[in-house]
Amino acid sequence: MDRKKFLKNLGFGVVAAPIMTTSLISCSNNEDDIVKNPDANKCGVTKTDMLGPYYVSGTSRITNLNTQNLPGDKIIVSGKLYGGADKSKPLANAMIEVWHADGGGVYHPVGDGNVNDYTADKITLRGFVNTDAQGNYMFESIRPGLYPGRPRHFHYKVTANGYKTLVTQIYFKGDPRTADEGIENCRIIDFQKDSAGTYKGNAEIHLESN
Ligand SMILES: [Fe+2]
Repeated sequence: MDRKKFLKNLGFGVVAAPIMTTSLISCSNNEDDIVKNPDANKCGVTKTDMLGPYYVSGTSRITNLNTQNLPGDKIIVSGKLYGGADKSKPLANAMIEVWHADGGGVYHPVGDGNVNDYTADKITLRGFVNTDAQGNYMFESIRPGLYPGRPRHFHYKVTANGYKTLVTQIYFKGDPRTADEGIENCRIIDFQKDSAGTYKGNAEIHLESN
């Protein structure tokens, strides 16, 4: 195993106590605020990435992944899912599972398996959304923190009838660690902070047919 793969596979047994906050989360999602990836037209089928050690199956359908109000920078991720390399086939009713670290770089849980392996209070910053009739998806959460050896990232597992299940990760523009792993621009998203302090970005995904 090379060094990068080793670092990607590293598990960190840090246990973070959930910190409850009372902040209200508003949910605006103005398309005009979202910067589209200028490379989106030439990206082709989205590249795969490692599942990593913290995928938990059986999570809930949810729009706000931050179910325990963990502290952090609010973030809204939107995008569109297509079948194939071009934009001729938006995919409706697909499932996009998302999981990511909290602001301190810790997953909840620090583990894998199925949700039934854990008590509900151990599960957060995970869930899935479905694409709408036009292939659009959106979720909100807090900006993932850093853990050693990796760029800042969200994990995706995308499932749609007639297409290969895609396991991938999306990254943050301006994070120099993406160059360390040779991440191509198509999965590096230009998240921009709006006037309310919310990061917003658009991640377009293209699935490969079966
Ligand atoms: Fe990760």
